[in-house]
Amino acid sequence: MATEQPVGAPPEVKETIQTKKPTGQKIDPYNVAGEVDETGAVKAIDYNHLIEEFGVQPLKPEHLERFERITGKPAHRLMRRKLFFSHRDFDKILDAYEKHGKFMMYTGRGPSSGSMHLGHTVPFLFTKELQEIFDVPLVIMLTDDEKYLYTRNKNHGVQKRGAAVEDFIEFAHENAKDIIALGFDVKKTFIYTDFEYTGLGHFNQNIKEMESLITFNQASGAFGFDASTNVGLISYGAAQCVAAFPSSYPTLFGLEDNRPPDYEHLHRHKSLAKIPTLIPCAIDQEPYFRMLRDRCERMSDPHPKTSLILSKFLTALQGPGGKMSASDPNSAIFMSDTPKQIQTKINRHAFSGGRESLEEHRKLGGDPDVDVAYTYLSYFLEDDAELEDLAQRYRRGELLTGEMKARCISELQKFVADFQERRAKVTHEVMRSFMCPRLLEFGGNRNPSQKQADAGGAKSNGIVNGKAEDEEAGAADATGKEGRGTKSERKQAKMAEKLAAKAQEKLALRPKGSEGRAS
Ligand code: TRP
Repeated sequence: MATEQPVGAPPEVKETIQTKKPTGQKIDPYNVAGEVDETGAVKAIDYNHLIEEFGVQPLKPEHLERFERITGKPAHRLMRRKLFFSHRDFDKILDAYEKHGKFMMYTGRGPSSGSMHLGHTVPFLFTKELQEIFDVPLVIMLTDDEKYLYTRNKNHGVQKRGAAVEDFIEFAHENAKDIIALGFDVKKTFIYTDFEYTGLGHFNQNIKEMESLITFNQASGAFGFDASTNVGLISYGAAQCVAAFPSSYPTLFGLEDNRPPDYEHLHRHKSLAKIPTLIPCAIDQEPYFRMLRDRCERMSDPHPKTSLILSKFLTALQGPGGKMSASDPNSAIFMSDTPKQIQTKINRHAFSGGRESLEEHRKLGGDPDVDVAYTYLSYFLEDDAELEDLAQRYRRGELLTGEMKARCISELQKFVADFQERRAKVTHEVMRSFMCPRLLEFGGNRNPSQKQADAGGAKSNGIVNGKAEDEEAGAADATGKEGRGTKSERKQAKMAEKLAAKAQEKLALRPKGSEGRAS
């Protein structure tokens, strides 16, 4: 057991791992495994190798400088500290923001259980802070369908207890509440589960078109499927891809969708296809988005290639060889843990970069780079100077493992307690207000370089005043700009009002006392 290990010993290598044959590192949406060497030991993930293998770009100091120049805000600590370490076309999203002022952000989560751990919150915190800085709309996809299909596939077609379709929808709801408790702004954020949102309308039209562009061979190549994989999982990727298209969400931009009971807009909106998207995500999701980027321009309404900003995996308590996993309670700190549990987990299970004995530590110093308590502090501690001071004192042997852990424990206890306080306030109604398709409000870059041209009626990248221009009303835009907005803007505002009223009606019809669970 890891509990009995002396502090400073290398992470325990499980027996099953020791009997493993040497294999290369394997990273895709369904596998995250470091290289296994001849002795059977699992190595830490080699991110430089991954940059080459995936053909992504490293995130460079130039990017951070440009980010700071454009936004007037310091680069996020997770970018400064290289947790977010690589990208595709991050420059292009900055170009678009500088020129036209707006884009959409998209991220997601697979609801594999009802509780989220500390590791799950980090990319969402990053996304939230980027969204605040850019002041742009954000969509969060909860892939209850993916997790259902994946779990059943893993179990060779058997549906285990607690793993029915409905269970995953419930996990998605619990996760949505956790995500909301991280502090997202309801005015500019839309959260949805696939079962509830993606099967209809323009979203589904995009899915089917994307499915038509992906062959079985291409899906198997990207995700390691074979002829025994269930067909749901094989086609699922198309949905995760087109979720990056603003044209999948007309309602958020004040345009009409194609959903029952009636609609006028059979056709997806061309104006939305022009809006670029940025996805912050962990690098294991990159195979989806490589597939997406290869097909953006082949859609009947071509979309710009989606930009990505990619993170490493969060370190497990046991050390850099693995990642936090919800299925191993000792590998992770859960957002529902008590202060005492946090203290115990860090003290007992967090891999230490300290030395075997106090004397040795004082003499030789510790290694903060492999120290899990320090690593967690690097995710959560905003103060660069304090973090640097902790590292230096640790290296010099002045700071002991127990002291590093104590600093980490107090920081995490505070983060988790604040979270729990906010989580308690996320009622079913609050959750539904984030999940209701409605016109989002956002300002974007207040000083885009092409503002002058826009004011003259030229098309921007598809959004004006936070709402989409409708291509059908383009002529009116050029001539009819005045205080009340263009004809198309007025039409959109009316539409948005109608939709909001409908949503309110639906909410009001919900039976009282159905707080929390759906069943
Ligand atoms: N497939 C992801 C998971 O299992 C969930 C997801 C969907 C996602 N869309 C995304 C993650 C976009 C990051 C970005 O966790």
